Formats: sequence, structure tokens, C-alpha cells
Amino acid sequence: MKSTQIYILASLTSLACSQLIALPLSFKRLTPHSLWNRPEQQPIMDAVSPALPPGQGNPGSGGGQGSVILSDVMGRDRSINIFAGFTRDIESISRRLDNSAQNSTVLAPLNSAIENLPRKPWEDPADYDTLGADAYEGEDGQERAQRNIRRFVEAHIVPSSPWPKNEKVKPIGSNTQAWWEEKDGVRMIQPGNIEVVSIASTVANGEVWIIKGVRNY
Ligand SMILES: *[C@@H]1O[C@H](CO)[C@@H](O)[C@H](O)[C@H]1NC(C)=O
Repeated sequence: MKSTQIYILASLTSLACSQLIALPLSFKRLTPHSLWNRPEQQPIMDAVSPALPPGQGNPGSGGGQGSVILSDVMGRDRSINIFAGFTRDIESISRRLDNSAQNSTVLAPLNSAIENLPRKPWEDPADYDTLGADAYEGEDGQERAQRNIRRFVEAHIVPSSPWPKNEKVKPIGSNTQAWWEEKDGVRMIQPGNIEVVSIASTVANGEVWIIKGVRNY
């Protein structure tokens, strides 16, 4: 195994074992520092807008009201903190989840689903075919890994919310449609028969659905 992979795997492992929500360190270098230390917006808003109605300044409220948005709640549930870390690392996604004018349904795979994948989200068999075992070495390799992980994350962001049953929507960056059905009261994402474990959050710009598997990436 190459050092980059060990590095990434070690980061993911420590991520899963701790409550730290961070991405593989190798990716951090590619994104602006501000992404990682985004100041809490709520207190600032309170400070400059004392006239906000009660409830609007409470980041713990939710329920689709007030100013709580997806980026505020992605880190709430530890069972999806690997995926949540990915969304923070991909700038276009993190901007989207931070934008109250863009609704999304985030299909967040459980940590266990990501950990059990036969290949990691940043690995593409085609890269190994053309570049061999060093595919993710060096700066080019890191960019390749970053691109692949972005594709993985995008396949799990449905660009609309509410997302009605049976409505076919193309996830971001995807050429194929996704929809969901209900079987015995359980929501199943199609294609792939991926069970929705729960709807973890409903906020002003969308919902976070926790899912048991991953979409094809
Ligand atoms: C965005 O989501 C909110 C909260 O569910 C909803 O009220 C609003 O109609 C949605 N906007 C669009 C364009 O779907």
C-alpha cells in the first residue's frame, strides 16, 4: 500500500474512532483554510440583527423553520460523520449546503456503509488501470482522489427538497435519475434498493436522509 493511501486510511480510521469531524488531511491542503474553521454564523447574526424574531437565532431548533440550514446540521449525527466530512471538504457542495436559497436532499450513507465499500470513495478502477498502483501518489494523485470523492459526494446530493415519492431527479453531476419508493413503510432509494434509515434533519434548505448503503459512484 502506498503512503498516500495509508495516510488517507489512517485519517479515516481516526475519524471514525474519534468525534473529530475532519477529512483526510491530504485533502485539506487543497481547500481554503476558511472552510475548516468557518465561524459560527448564528451568534454573529444575533449580534447584528437584534430585531430577529425569537427562535431564529437558535441553531438547535430545526424543523424546517428559521435560519437553520443543512450546513449547520450535517455534523449532528455521528453515524454519518465520514460523509459529513466529505461534504465539508468539497467546496461546491459545502457552498450549496450553506446556501439557504438552494434546496437539497442529502442522502448521507452511514459510516459503516462507507467503511465496508470494496473500494474507497476516492478510488476509481480506471485510474489504477491507466496509472497503476501509484494512481493517487503525489499532487496529481491527490487531485485525482479529490475529483473522485467529489463525484461520490455529488451522487448523494439530490438537488431538490421536498423530494416527492417516485419523482425522478438527477443527483448533482449525475447522468442517471434517482427516485424513492415506499415498501412496508420503509423508504427505498432507487435504483439500488438502498434503505433510508431515518430522516435525520429537516431544515430551511432541505433534509438529511441517513441511508444504509451508497449510491453507485
Ligand atoms: C425549499 O425547502 C423549504 C423547506 O422545506 C420549502 O418551504 C420551499 O418551498 C423549498 N423551495 C423550493 C424551491 O423547493
